[in-house]
Amino acid sequence: MITITNVSREYAARRGKAPVLALQDISLQIQDQEFVVVVGPSGCGKTTLLNLLAGFEQATSGQILFDGKELKRPGAERGIVFQQATLYPWLSVYENIALGLKLKQGRQFKRERVHYFLETMGLQDFAQHPPYQLSGGMQQRVAIARALIVEPKILLMDEPFGALDAQTRSEMQQFLLGLWEHIKATVFFITHDVEEAILLADRIVVMTARPGSIAQEITVTLPRPRAWDIALTEEFLALKREVLSILRPGLTHLQTVHSA
Ligand SMILES: Nc1ncnc2c1ncn2[C@@H]1O[C@H](COP(=O)(O)OP(=O)(O)OP(=O)(O)O)[C@@H](O)[C@H]1O
Ligand SMILES: [Mg+2]
Repeated sequence: MITITNVSREYAARRGKAPVLALQDISLQIQDQEFVVVVGPSGCGKTTLLNLLAGFEQATSGQILFDGKELKRPGAERGIVFQQATLYPWLSVYENIALGLKLKQGRQFKRERVHYFLETMGLQDFAQHPPYQLSGGMQQRVAIARALIVEPKILLMDEPFGALDAQTRSEMQQFLLGLWEHIKATVFFITHDVEEAILLADRIVVMTARPGSIAQEITVTLPRPRAWDIALTEEFLALKREVLSILRPGLTHLQTVHSA
């Protein structure tokens, strides 16, 4: 579905500072209906890569193809969810979700779609509430609903659960997995959290520190559906060790001692 070939992104020099090479020679393929998770150190260019896929920014060199066509600008076939649910505080949950639908689509159609998503997201009882009366996890579900209502082919998610507490985060991971099994959209997901990456991914893309390049791609063959306790299995721990050994090679020994 998406083919990234030799993509680099440099930010121009500003106020006497040297230019910043954020991404260096990234090549990556994303298959239809695949769940791809990117992990990497802070500042390695994860968000930059997502911005390129969203069409918010342009690569300095290299090429990105979406279904064979060059990707240059934002489009409705790519839905985006940020770390903070960027909802309009003066609109209700219902109105926030309905926002992406076009005027010409008709009232009855819109109402049915919004209600379908309110139900899928477990938000029926909060349709008329403003977002600030919802918990963080619920707000993030509104943001996901708003992204999904236009039926994007791919969902781009930039640390969508990063601001949530551990319990809510775990609930949202299970929620997203369930949703994904159901809608079978392609997901491109960024996280700092190695366990989150393993739990969710078909494939993990591990990036190096800036300038970000791809250190390794790891296929996750853990069976689905996956529940939280899959994190207790040997196979999961082996994957965790593998990812961590790439992310922070100096700490591998410590990691082994701790989990022994
Ligand atoms: N608009 C910009 N202008 C100049 N430099 C930028 C710009 N956006 C990002 N950068 C730089 O590019 C590098 C990569 O940033 P990016 O936000 O993509 O990293 P990240 O991997 O998402 O980090 P984090 O994990 O902290 O979210 C950083 O050094 C950042 O300072
Ligand atoms: Mg980022």
